Amino acid sequence: MKKIAIYPGSFDPITNGHIDILKRALRMFDEVILLLAIHPTKQYSFSQAERLIMLEAVRQQIDPLRIRVDATQGLTVHYARQHQAIALVRGLRAVPDFTYEHEMYAANQYIDEGVEMLFLMAKNQHEFISSSMIKSMYKHGVDVTALVPKIVLSYLKKLS
Ligand code: COA
Repeated sequence: MKKIAIYPGSFDPITNGHIDILKRALRMFDEVILLLAIHPTKQYSFSQAERLIMLEAVRQQIDPLRIRVDATQGLTVHYARQHQAIALVRGLRAVPDFTYEHEMYAANQYIDEGVEMLFLMAKNQHEFISSSMIKSMYKHGVDVTALVPKIVLSYLKKLS
C-alpha cells in the first residue's frame, strides 16, 4: 500500500525552508500532499488561488508524480483520514515553533490518534526564514533570490 503524507501549511508564500522539508518527506513517503490549510488567526498576503499556483509550480519542478497539491477549509487530520494519509509532516525551527506544534499535536491526537505527526528539524540555514520575514525583507529591498523558488519572486513583485 502507498505511504501517503500530508504537508499542511499556509504557504504564504512557500519558501526554500518548506521545500527542504518537502524533499525530506519524499524520501520517507511514496507520495506527499502539499495541503493549503487555514490558520485561524492569519491574514494572508496572497489569495488561495495564488498560493495554489505557487505550490503547483514547485510540484512541477520537484516531483510531479509523487507530489499532489490541494486545499482544505477543514481540519488537516480529517483531510488525512479521507485521503488515506498516515502522517502529517511539519518543520520545526526554534522554540516558538515547538510550543505551537506541541499544541497542534495534542489537538490532532485528540481528534484522530490514527494520524501520526512527524516533525523534521529545519536546517540551520533555514532557521531564520519565515514567509513573513521573506515578505518583509523583499519589501525593504533585500535580495531574497536564494530563499524562495523562482515563481515566488514574481508573486512578491505584485505585493510591492
Ligand atoms: N523553514 C522555514 N520556515 C518555515 C518552515 C521551515 N522548515 N516551516 C515553517 N516555516 C514558517 C512559515 O514560513 C510560516 O511563516 P509565517 O508565520 O511568517 O507565515 C510559519 O513558519 C508557519 O507556517 P506554515 O508552516 O505555512 O504553517 P502555518 O502555521 O501557517 O499553518 C496550519 C498551520 C494551516 C497547518 C494549521 O493551522 C492547520 O492545520 N489548520 C487547519 C485546521 C486544523 O486542522 N486545526 C487543528 C486542530 S483544531
